Amino acid sequence: MTRIAIYPGSFDPLTRGHEDLIRRALALADHLIVAVAINPNKEPLFSVEERLRLLKLAAADDPRIELASFAGLLADFARDRNATMVVRGLRAVSDFEYEFQMALMNRKLNGVLETVFLVPAVDLTYLSSSLVREVARFGGPLDGLVSPAVAEALKARFGT
Ligand code: PNS
Repeated sequence: MTRIAIYPGSFDPLTRGHEDLIRRALALADHLIVAVAINPNKEPLFSVEERLRLLKLAAADDPRIELASFAGLLADFARDRNATMVVRGLRAVSDFEYEFQMALMNRKLNGVLETVFLVPAVDLTYLSSSLVREVARFGGPLDGLVSPAVAEALKARFGT
């Protein structure tokens, strides 16, 4: 049986924390779909195409990884792709409530869908895409936070 997992997110932009989670998820799944969610309520910094391009450059060096995007419910996307596992990262207690609700709702919507929470490397636990955007906006150093390709894209976007 092939274990198909989805690692969904906004990835706006991809951080070293996301990359760490992708590596860890590969220990659990035979096939990992890293899926960029298209959220019509959010004004992203990078387009879906740009986020997929950056994912390809920084995090698709294993044949078990597939990059995708999806609109609508994750539960439906998982059903379409025969995935039974959702991977999410838990960095701090503050992540827990939202993630717990989402995991339960996703299982209500799709009874075979289990959510697996992974903890990132301890030195990456403070990282988030929103903080990275903030640092980049004001020209702060991005070393260790994102891959060189993402750093370049951020600098180009903010002219920093
Ligand atoms: O990186 P993020 O922004 O924390 O990811 C959140 C994401 C994309 C995983 C979540 O918002 C999502 O799954 N969106 C798709 C719509 C959906 O299914 N929402 C959850 C219903 S419980």
